[in-house]
Amino acid sequence: MKRSKRFEMLENRPINMDGFSKEWTEVGLIAMESPNDPKPNIKVLNGKIVELDGKKRETFDSIDFFISDYGINIDFTEEAMAIDSLTVARMMVDINVPREEIVKISTASTPAKLVEIVSHLNTLEIMMAQTKMRARKTPANQAHATNIEDNPVLIAADAAEAAYRGFSEVETTCAVARYAPFNAIALLLGAQTGRAGVLNQCSMEEATELELGMRGFTSYAETLSVYGTEAVLLDGGDTPWSKAFLASAYASRGIKMRFTSGTGSEVLMGNSEGKSMLYLESKCLFLTKACGVQGTQNGSINCSPLVVALPNGFRTIAAENLIASMLGIEVASGNDTAFTHSDIRRGVKLAMQLIPGTDFITSGYGGIPNCDNVFAGSNTDCDDYDDFYTLQRDMKVDGGIKPIREDEAIYIRNKAAKVCQTVFSALGLPEVTDEEVEAAVYAYSCKDMPKRNKVEDMRAASQLMSDNITGFDIVKALYDNGYEEIAERVLNLLKQRVIGDYLHTSAIFNEKYEVMSAINDKNDYMGPGTGYVIKSDRWDEIKLKENALNPENF
Ligand code: 5AD
Ligand code: CA
Repeated sequence: MKRSKRFEMLENRPINMDGFSKEWTEVGLIAMESPNDPKPNIKVLNGKIVELDGKKRETFDSIDFFISDYGINIDFTEEAMAIDSLTVARMMVDINVPREEIVKISTASTPAKLVEIVSHLNTLEIMMAQTKMRARKTPANQAHATNIEDNPVLIAADAAEAAYRGFSEVETTCAVARYAPFNAIALLLGAQTGRAGVLNQCSMEEATELELGMRGFTSYAETLSVYGTEAVLLDGGDTPWSKAFLASAYASRGIKMRFTSGTGSEVLMGNSEGKSMLYLESKCLFLTKACGVQGTQNGSINCSPLVVALPNGFRTIAAENLIASMLGIEVASGNDTAFTHSDIRRGVKLAMQLIPGTDFITSGYGGIPNCDNVFAGSNTDCDDYDDFYTLQRDMKVDGGIKPIREDEAIYIRNKAAKVCQTVFSALGLPEVTDEEVEAAVYAYSCKDMPKRNKVEDMRAASQLMSDNITGFDIVKALYDNGYEEIAERVLNLLKQRVIGDYLHTSAIFNEKYEVMSAINDKNDYMGPGTGYVIKSDRWDEIKLKENALNPENF
């Protein structure tokens, strides 16, 4: 066939480097609206759920038991389930119906019921509903600070810059697991240098992650994965009870924590029971709720390339974020893992959470370049800051961050790298040289950093753990070496463990360490003029554009 030059051109567009798949219902390769999904129903007998979404108690697996016994408000369930799903869907986009009224119904509903409700909504309606349903009024954002060399000085500088740009949470992970204590400490120091009250986490294997939290090196945890089928949950060595136990371990030490789940993981791991991705994710969210956990990181996360390969991909991901909010839990709404070669596609995906606002618009904005992202690369990273800021400015939406000047970035990165140098020296860790400090301030990626002696670093990181170094030793190191203000900030973060207010749903801190959560910063959206409104000082920050023409210059 003679080729059309236009079709040839289209074929070579970035979008056509993405993978796509048709639906395959029987194996669960379907994002939502599967004919195999159960019809919602509930039967209660003597105060116990004896039938859930078409399954009788005798045939329950461990997830069904757990959800039935702990995840559904049994006192109201019969009334809630009796309300027609289309009616609830309409309530979701009706500005006259307050959020609480819907949460009362959703928390007494079943997983299949919430899927049925959101399936009545088109994409715009899902976004409208998300504006009303998110738990915290003020939107926020989260950043990644990692690098493939696990260079702690660079992590400190990157965390400081991210905090200064306004991210409320920063997370790291390791290329090599033994680096974990260094990465966690560097992230803590950097974040607190950048802005007081920014929370930090180090995503590791579960025992290590918990220990880092208990030591006071991290202030929240997020990657406690749950799955929507028993086979996949067991595959990860877990049961609902083991996950609930782990969640309680964090709570007992006053550490903020959320679960992670997301569409696509079950089919990717070969055990979807032939159900749609959204239905299985709904089960994950009920499981999260049943464990008493305040929030979730969802939105497909690492599985997004698979979900968006299918029809309804973006709509499904927005719907799973919405189901989390319907259950009254905090949602860190993905926009994390890179999934496309198309800039149009990644921008539109981001807009679906940026415009309505969620508790954390991205659950991992790459505060570093793609080549240094030790997670799976992010949908947006440091190269995209000006795009992100311009979108905020174009639409007058608050995506949780603000533009900064180059001299400010240099200043704060320098300070954080020096803080890291000082603490490493005070704790007797391998030296951070002046050359490294200088490199970390101006670097694009870890390729611009002098090489560290990794064997020595890893030995010292292990030693630090066996010497029982804790957050208090870091406070002391800072205080004794001229960094009283940052010592105070780290100490404040530790004090919050005892106070415990930041265990409330959707909690973040402002710079005065005052909690902003679903309790005291409750989302009260009920149509125009209500809910989160960008105040004039915030708008001044958001709309700042260094390279914009200025009438004063004419
Ligand atoms: N379901 C469950 N857990 C997930 N994670 C990422 N995507 C999913 C998902 N769809 C978790 C994994 C991963 C971390 C970054 O987040 O634990 O290692
Ligand atoms: Ca994250």
